[in-house]
Order: sequence, then C-alpha cells, then structure tokens
Amino acid sequence: MARQQSRYICQTCGAAHLRWEGQCRTCGAWNTLVETVVRVGDVRRRTGPGAGPAARAVTPQSLSGLREAEPIRIPTGVGEMDRVLGGGLVPGSAVLLGGEPGIGKSTLLLQAAAGLALGSGDSGGEVLYATGEESAGQVRLRAGRLDLLEGAVADRISVVAENDVGRIVELTREARPVVLIVDSIQTVTTDELEGPAGSVGQVRECAMRLMEMAKQDGVAVILVGHVTKDGSLAGPKTLEHLVDAVLYLEGERTATLRLLRATKNRFGSTEEVGVFEMAERGLVEVSDPGRAFLATADEHAPGSVAGATLEGTRPLLVEVQALVAPGGYGSPRRTASGIDTNRLALLVAVLGRRAGVGLGSHDVYANLAGGLELADPGLDLPLCLALASSLRDRPVPRELVAVGEVGLLGELRPVPGLERRLREAARLGFRIAVVPGSRRSDPPSVTGIEVVAVANLREAIGRAVGAGPSLAGNRNSPEDSADAPSADLIGTPAPSAGPGPLGRR
Ligand code: TYD
Ligand code: MG
Repeated sequence: MARQQSRYICQTCGAAHLRWEGQCRTCGAWNTLVETVVRVGDVRRRTGPGAGPAARAVTPQSLSGLREAEPIRIPTGVGEMDRVLGGGLVPGSAVLLGGEPGIGKSTLLLQAAAGLALGSGDSGGEVLYATGEESAGQVRLRAGRLDLLEGAVADRISVVAENDVGRIVELTREARPVVLIVDSIQTVTTDELEGPAGSVGQVRECAMRLMEMAKQDGVAVILVGHVTKDGSLAGPKTLEHLVDAVLYLEGERTATLRLLRATKNRFGSTEEVGVFEMAERGLVEVSDPGRAFLATADEHAPGSVAGATLEGTRPLLVEVQALVAPGGYGSPRRTASGIDTNRLALLVAVLGRRAGVGLGSHDVYANLAGGLELADPGLDLPLCLALASSLRDRPVPRELVAVGEVGLLGELRPVPGLERRLREAARLGFRIAVVPGSRRSDPPSVTGIEVVAVANLREAIGRAVGAGPSLAGNRNSPEDSADAPSADLIGTPAPSAGPGPLGRR
C-alpha cells in the first residue's frame, strides 16, 4: 500500500512544499499553496479498495475504430433537471450543483432522489444521500414536507449524516446505489489533510476521491457546492474543471422563481435552462416559463417594458423596469438588480448623447421582474425604452415587446434567435415588436405580431415612447401627460419616424 502524505502544492508552478507558506519559494506567487494528498511510491501500482487491475493494457486506437459510446442516462424524474442535464444522469459521472445557501439545492436533490428511486419503469434505483450539512432528522423534516416519507420510494433512499470522505466511499461501495448525493462537498473532509472543511485542498481532494469511486463503480455522483453571488467561496469553483457537469440553481431568495442552468456539460448542451417555482411543498416545475417573468400588475405604469430574451434555446419574456428620479447632491445613483450596473451606466450615457434622453442629473434604478439575472445584450433596447418612458412619464403600450442590442453610437444591432423570441412573444399575446433593422436585412415576419424594424435608439424611442419634453423640463405639457400614452405605434405609422430605411412590415 502506498503511503499517503500531504504536501502544499503551488497552484501556479506546481512546486511541492512541506509546510504552508504565504509565498511560493519557487515562483514567488502569493497565496497559491494548497494542501494536497500525494501518494508516495509507485503511483501506477496503487492498490487498495477500488484500484483497477494494475496491468490493464491500454493501446491507442484509431478514431474510426473507437466504439460508439452513447451514454446511458438515468432520468431523475424532475423534468426540468433532466432537460438541463441532457436527459438524465450518466453512470460514473460527477455533477456539481452550485448555488447560494438557501436557494433550494437540497430540496431539488431530495426531489430528484425520489424520482430516481421511483424510476421510469417498474424498477427504481437506490439512492444514497450523504449529508454533512444537516442531521438525518433535518433531512427527514424536509422529506416530510415533500411528502416522501412513505412507500417504496422512501425505502430506496438511504440517508447518512457523515463527513468523512473515506467513510462515504465505503458506505457507497456497501450499498451500491445508482446515485450518490453529497450535500455538501464543503462539509466533507479527509483526515489526511490538516486544512479545515471547505478549504480548497479539502474540497478538491474529497471531490477527487468521490469521482474516482464514481468512475470505478459506475455510480453517478452529485456534489452540492455553496457558492455566493460573487463566487467568493473558492472551494467549489475549483471543482468546475474536474467534474463532468456543472449546474447552478439561481434566483432571488426572496422571490419564488428559480433557474437551473448548466455552465458545463460533457454529456449534453449548456443551452438549456430549467425553470422552477419554490412552493410550499418543494420546487414545482414551471410549465409555461415564457410568461413567468412578466409582472402581473394590473396597472401599467411608465418605466415598464417587456423584453424578449433567450435563455439557451428557450425564449423568455421578461419585464424590464426602470425608475428615474431627479438626483440630489453628489453624483447620481445608478442602481441595477438583475442587470449589469456597468451596462446600465453605459446605456444611460448613450441615451444622453445619442437619443436626447438626458439622465445625467437623475438617479436611475433598473430591475428585472421575478428576480431574474440576465446578461443578454438583447435587453438593452427594452431597458433604454423603460428609462425613456420613466423620464417622460409616458407608459409604453402593454402589448409592445422590444429586443435589440444598443451600440455606442446609438445604433441597434441584431440579436441571435430573433424569430424564436418573437414567436414566443406573439404566443403570449404581444402585438407589436420593436426590433433592430438595417438596410440590408429584413426582420423576420411572425404571424400575430407586427414587427417594427428601427435603425437606431432615437427612432425606437420616438416610436415606442413618443417624443416629448422630459419630465424635468415640462411635466405638465398636455401632450406629454400619462393619459396620452405613445399612440405612435398603434394605428398609422408614426409620421415622425421619417423615411427610415425600414418601415413596418
Ligand atoms: P434548501 O433546499 O434547504 O436550500 P439549500 O440546500 O440550497 O441551502 O431550501 C431552503 C429554502 O427553501 C428554505 O428557505 C425553505 C424553502 N422551502 C420551501 O419554500 N418549500 C419547501 O417545500 C422546502 C422543502 C423548502
Ligand atoms: Mg442544503
């Protein structure tokens, strides 16, 4: 048996040190030493539980001679999760499920465990749920809430409160489950390392052990990792390149909607998202996610514009909200939630210089409804329209949807998947779409929705919000009142639009 020792390995140059030091003596990098288990002796003749046959000869093969390996999939029974995984879990693979504390990772996995135990045919699989985070009693409480305490399903899920990775591997080898869930990887430790639970060294070493076991025994492993919004918990982040798939459960803890995204998937696409709602009894799959992020307020106030975005291959309609208020002393505020603040600042500048919507002395707040967080440049246009609408205190028609990227010159740029976005908008009852257009390309025509192609931001604002003095300038001008919403788009083409390169279609 090879002896195991721990060394401090520099993550930059790979030099090994006996003791932790702040600076690597070899390359001079700071704070790069991570405690790691090294196996002294001949690595290739490693023995012990689970070590593969030592002399298995591996010879290179031509690409054409490789056997087809369409991975087997074990559906978790949670449709949205299977969608994101690409059909289900693959035996022998490792999946990292990240997300902020309290977002619903344990809930999702307990529901997936139930689905796995139930199985698709008549035989479900065994699931081992190792929890280092909660006691078995706490898991039972949650299972009770999810109504999973009785029946065959409950018999097939075993729960163990265990922190030691060696013990978890042992238990898995005894129980032979199809899936092992480790909640969370930050609580699992090995006594071969001195570092505390959750340190980079511990997290990596434990994850590697579990993955090694997964590969050898054909068990699918799901590791839970707590990650904060700014990614400040480094441990799980360092696992991303080790595991086969990385899923993130996102959302605003105070809101109920949750998005499940894959940022990496060796067995499927990273394009899919799953949409859930946190309900009284667990996460419920949202059947019509296209509508989920539209606010449902009856009143349609200025500053709200629907945008059509694409989450992977899935079109979503989101409500972009903006509030513009005269600023006080000092530099004006630019606050955004769900949208990049720098992007907001940039768009405010473009609006001022290129579209005659001066917000330089105003405080600006922007928000995506439903706690959604998106980096889709296609939301630039709805955000700009919402800002202009709020400043001018004129609502944008409710049946209007906007999509388009805004450039520094105030020009509108096309976005991918425009037709798919517009079809979804039409399905959800939107009647007018303001989209980027140029002389060269025609916008798609979609039945049920009038597609208005505009070349630049100024034109888009003229059409959707209507021209008019700003809130600060002349608030009481009759044609600028909130009762006269921008009729420009409804009825005949706006005369002010001029001989634009593209008209309405
Ligand atoms: P949890 O799965 O424990 O989060 P994580 O494992 O990511 O830390 O979920 C925690 C929150 O979910 C908690 O605030 C309560 C809420 N919740 C529900 O609203 N409904 C439910 O059925 C369950 C089980 C939890
Ligand atoms: Mg949890």
